Amino acid sequence: MEKELNLYGPAPTEEPERQYYFIEVCKKQVEEESKRLGRPLTFCVTTFGCQMNARDSEKLTGILEQIGYQPTEEENADFVIYNTCTVRENANLKVYGHLGLLKHRKKENPHMKIALCGCMMQEPEVVKKLKESYRFVDLVFGTHNIFKFAELLAESMESGGMIVDIWKDTQEIVEELPIERKYAFKSGVNIMFGCNNFCSYCIVPYVRGRERSRKPEDIIREIEKLAADGVSEIMLLGQNVNSYGKNLDDPITFAELLRRVEQIEGIRRIRFMTSHPKDLSDELIQVMKESKKICRHLHLPVQSGSSRILKAMNRKYTKEQYLALAEKIRREIPDISLTTDIIVGFPGETDEDFAETLDVVRKVRYDNAYTFIYSKRTGTPAAAMENQVAPEDNKRRFDQLLALVQSLAKEQTARFAGTVQEVLVEEVNDHKEGYVTGRMSNNLLVHFPGDASLIGQYRNVRLEECKGFYYMGTVV
Ligand code: 5AD
Ligand code: SF4
Repeated sequence: MEKELNLYGPAPTEEPERQYYFIEVCKKQVEEESKRLGRPLTFCVTTFGCQMNARDSEKLTGILEQIGYQPTEEENADFVIYNTCTVRENANLKVYGHLGLLKHRKKENPHMKIALCGCMMQEPEVVKKLKESYRFVDLVFGTHNIFKFAELLAESMESGGMIVDIWKDTQEIVEELPIERKYAFKSGVNIMFGCNNFCSYCIVPYVRGRERSRKPEDIIREIEKLAADGVSEIMLLGQNVNSYGKNLDDPITFAELLRRVEQIEGIRRIRFMTSHPKDLSDELIQVMKESKKICRHLHLPVQSGSSRILKAMNRKYTKEQYLALAEKIRREIPDISLTTDIIVGFPGETDEDFAETLDVVRKVRYDNAYTFIYSKRTGTPAAAMENQVAPEDNKRRFDQLLALVQSLAKEQTARFAGTVQEVLVEEVNDHKEGYVTGRMSNNLLVHFPGDASLIGQYRNVRLEECKGFYYMGTVV
């Protein structure tokens, strides 16, 4: 590293300049290695988990492309990165499975580099296990220092050994680093990081740290740039967007942020994720109702229908409060799509509690629901609760819930049959030749005749045939 540092002078101490400096350092190394191999170096970022991780992966990709790596499939990549999730144990186990395969590949191609980052790396037991049994991994970093990726990569290129850098928490938000978007026409935009809610089952507050909001000016500037670059649909991202702005030096509400984003020319659609029911304000409902740009979709995780379980989950609302909120939203914005997350088998859940969950599902008539079996996450309060539910009860409840959710979602989807909806064309349909797929404001998909030239454009489409969870249609 010393030699490199001298080439470029001392590394700047300010961000983001410091990272741009290390991008140059890495670039030089990659150029030399490519020359030696007589071909470009390649990378693959594999993302597990949520939209936040997807956005983080775009940041990693942006930096890697500036360094001179070219994207490829995982099998052929010189540099493999897993951006991990740990919200449920499944996600966690998947990563270990993949690592087993990578170990063999690296034996055959010793020059290969492997990096792990994301939520799972924020768990001390995971890092311990990696250090003990997965020494072939080159670089391990977490969620708080992802902005330091170029610097860590430079360090790793120099050292040859395993580099591990995990921060417990941070107040730092580094702006203006390179990002490579997956889609030309739509983009996620982080508005806040972390979560302060400490739902008792959830590991997110421990791995993503305390809530930090980006300044509205920074968010607006980013969206203006995206719009100038051809993006027309944005998704504002945060673990709990309804509490956006509360801890800023000049506090503002999420509803007010939406009003400002709405003013940005070129942006036609605004989505956001995720809303906590306890913080969803009347002001927000009003802004959504009046807006021409905010999409007719609200993801409102209920988690359970039993007030007793909700209390044990530390969700801070009751069944009745949630139902009243859902009803108010449907009344004010009748064409809205409501979706949710539900956990079955939280410790202590009885058949009576579960019946309350089914009752909420029937009453709200969700347009879609993501259902999960409770997964014990080490370090969370629920993991220490004694009355864990038996796997066979979980399975039975899960199947029953899924069947109900799916049949209601089908009915909900069907209610738009025959209407004309504006869609944003996202991709060529790979199941049916000569068809493209568009997304409606309410998040439903419709397939209709068209070609790649339509991608990124808006069309009015008649919804002709409801196929359960999606439609077939034609442009009007
Ligand atoms: N077990 C099962 N599901 C969980 N979720 C969060 N933590 C757990 C857990 N320990 C679900 C919640 C959340 C979604 C992103 O994941 O429903 O809304
Ligand atoms: Fe987890 Fe609850 Fe925060 Fe969502 S709001 S990330 S479920 S702690």
